[in-house]
Amino acid sequence: MTTAFDPVTIGRYTARNRIVMSPMTRNRAYGGGGAPTALMATYYAQRAGAGLIITEGTQPNAEGQGYMNTPGLHTPAQIAGWRQVTDAVHERGGLIFAQLMHTGRIGHPAQYYDQEAGHHPRGVSAVRAEGQVHTPEGPRDLAEPRELSDAELWRTVADFADAARNAIEAGFDGVELHGANGYLIHQSLASGVNTRTDGWGGDVAGRIRFAVEVVRAVADAIGADRVGLRISPSNPYNDIREDDHREVYSALVEAIDPLGLAYLHIGEGPDTDFTPVLRKLWSGTFILNPFTPGAYTGPEALKLVETGAADLVSYAALYLANPDLPERLRAGGPFNQPDYSKAYGGDETGYTDYPTLA
Ligand SMILES: Cc1cc2nc3c(=O)[nH]c(=O)nc-3n(C[C@H](O)[C@H](O)[C@H](O)COP(=O)(O)O)c2cc1C
Repeated sequence: MTTAFDPVTIGRYTARNRIVMSPMTRNRAYGGGGAPTALMATYYAQRAGAGLIITEGTQPNAEGQGYMNTPGLHTPAQIAGWRQVTDAVHERGGLIFAQLMHTGRIGHPAQYYDQEAGHHPRGVSAVRAEGQVHTPEGPRDLAEPRELSDAELWRTVADFADAARNAIEAGFDGVELHGANGYLIHQSLASGVNTRTDGWGGDVAGRIRFAVEVVRAVADAIGADRVGLRISPSNPYNDIREDDHREVYSALVEAIDPLGLAYLHIGEGPDTDFTPVLRKLWSGTFILNPFTPGAYTGPEALKLVETGAADLVSYAALYLANPDLPERLRAGGPFNQPDYSKAYGGDETGYTDYPTLA
C-alpha cells in the first residue's frame, strides 16, 4: 500500500514524502517593496521536511498585490530576498514552489507598496466583491475594480510568465498558479464575476481562456514540469458565485491536461463529489487539500493517499503550527495548535517559534 511517507514524482522532481505545505499568506515581507526577509527564510527552512513547500501567495506584478506586506516576484530586490529562502530550504534537502497570486478585484488602493504609482485593483469585470480588507488606514471596503482591457489581460499573462522566470532565477524549483479562493484566475472562471463579452468571458470556453493562457505562457517560460495549478471549484470564498462550476472546471482540466504540468492542486469546496471526477480527468500528479468545514485538515487526511483519492495531501493550519509536521504525523501527534491571531503580519511570535518534537 502507498502511504503518505513514500516518495512521489512531482514534474521533474522526486518529493521525499506526500505531505505538502499548503500556501499560506503570512504578510511578513518587510524587506522593502515586497522583498522577503531572513526571518521568512528561517520559517520556510523549518518546514523543509515537507515533500513540497508551496509558498504564500506572491504577486506577479505590482497591481496584483491585494494585501499588506505580501511578497512579490517582479523586482530584483524581491528575487534577491527569495534567494535566501530557497537556499535555506535547499540546504535542508527541501523542494519549494512559489505560489503566484494576482488578487484581481480583491484589494484596496491604500495597500500597494508603491503609493506614488496610483495603482488600483483590477478585475476581469468591474464587479465589486462584498467584503473588507486591512489597509494601513484600518479595515476598508474592497474597491470596485477597474476592468482589464484585452491588451492588459495579455500583459498580465506575460507578467505571470516573467514572474515564473524570476522564480527560477530566485532558486525556486517551480511555481504554483493560484487559480483558487476568489483571486484573479478564479474570478475569470466564475459566472458570477466574469461578465465579459469579448472572448475572455461569456460561455465556458471564454471563461477558461485566461486560465489556459496563463498556464500555457508559464509552462512555455519555465517548462510544464515545473508548473502546478491550484483550483477550488465551488468554493465561494471572496464572494465568488459559480453557477456551472462542473462544466467550467472539467473543460479547464481537459484543456490543460495534455500540457504535462507538474501537478493539479485541489482546494476542495463544498461539492466534494466533484473531486473524484477531476481525479479521473487529470492524468498527472494530484494534490488534495480536503474540505473540512469548521476545522482544519488533520491526520485522518493521510488516508486520501492510501485509498488513491490523491497522490499528495496538503496541510495549511497544521503546518503553520508544526514545523516538523511529517514526523508528527508519522508518530500520530501530538500537534501544536495554530494561533490565528499571529497569522497575518507580525514578528517571529506565532511564526518561527512553534516547537518541534525533538
Ligand atoms: C493563514 C492562512 C493563509 C492562507 N493563505 C493562502 C494563500 O496565500 N494561498 C492559497 O492558495 N491558500 C491560502 N490559504 C488556504 C490554505 O492553503 C488551505 O487551503 C486552507 O487553510 C485549508 O487547509 P487546512 O484545513 O489544512 O488549513 C491560507 C490559509 C491560512 C490558514
